[in-house]
Amino acid sequence: MKKGFFLILEGCEGTGKSTVGHWLEEKLKEKGYPVFFTREPGGKGSPVAEKIREIILNKENNVLPLTEAYLFAASRAQHVNEIIIPHLKNHEIVICDRFVYSSYAYQGGGRNLGLEKIKTINSFAIENIKPDLILLFDLDPKIGLERKYQNRQDLDRLDNENLEFHIRVRETYLQLAREAPELIKIVNVNKPLEEVKQIALTIVNQKLEEINYGQH
Ligand code: TYD
Repeated sequence: MKKGFFLILEGCEGTGKSTVGHWLEEKLKEKGYPVFFTREPGGKGSPVAEKIREIILNKENNVLPLTEAYLFAASRAQHVNEIIIPHLKNHEIVICDRFVYSSYAYQGGGRNLGLEKIKTINSFAIENIKPDLILLFDLDPKIGLERKYQNRQDLDRLDNENLEFHIRVRETYLQLAREAPELIKIVNVNKPLEEVKQIALTIVNQKLEEINYGQH
């Protein structure tokens, strides 16, 4: 029996995915759905995962690529078991701002560790949970990074990577989307925010209908 609805938000820097994600959360709650919003690295309600997040993102830390990959996976193992699975079992809509696809794109692509290695490292961390839908917020990283630099002073270790790194991240995301077009839906965010929100909501509603969420 299908339980809950697992919605993942992915994308490069400065795509506005968190803003749209919180808006989706509100819209779905207005419809009466139980919604739980969380994000990675770390996880809402998981102090251990949050502590690992601090180690990963802190600019003072010289974290090597493979260590970084394991830390993301460790944080995820905690988040999945402690937070995500219980909420899905409770039949909730879990919106997760970044998940394992970020590791595929950033560590596999950006850091050049390769997809196979990152899939292996994460295969234990994600148990057997399957996403119902992944929204991939897509934008030229050049524009995304400019947006991010304008809006924030506190850039983390990964934001500070060079443009080539972020181009590899995007390419990996797009490759994953080409391989799983039913699961990963690309949302082009190079348009007004209101339009992006409506596009995202339409895709989510279609998927909820498709899997008969709430009818089981
Ligand atoms: P954060 O400020 O939380 O996120 P966002 O960019 O979504 O506003 O920063 C998280 C950073 O960590 C971001 O640069 C993406 C990166 N990341 C990975 O490299 N691998 C992962 O598995 C995850 C979850 C995130």
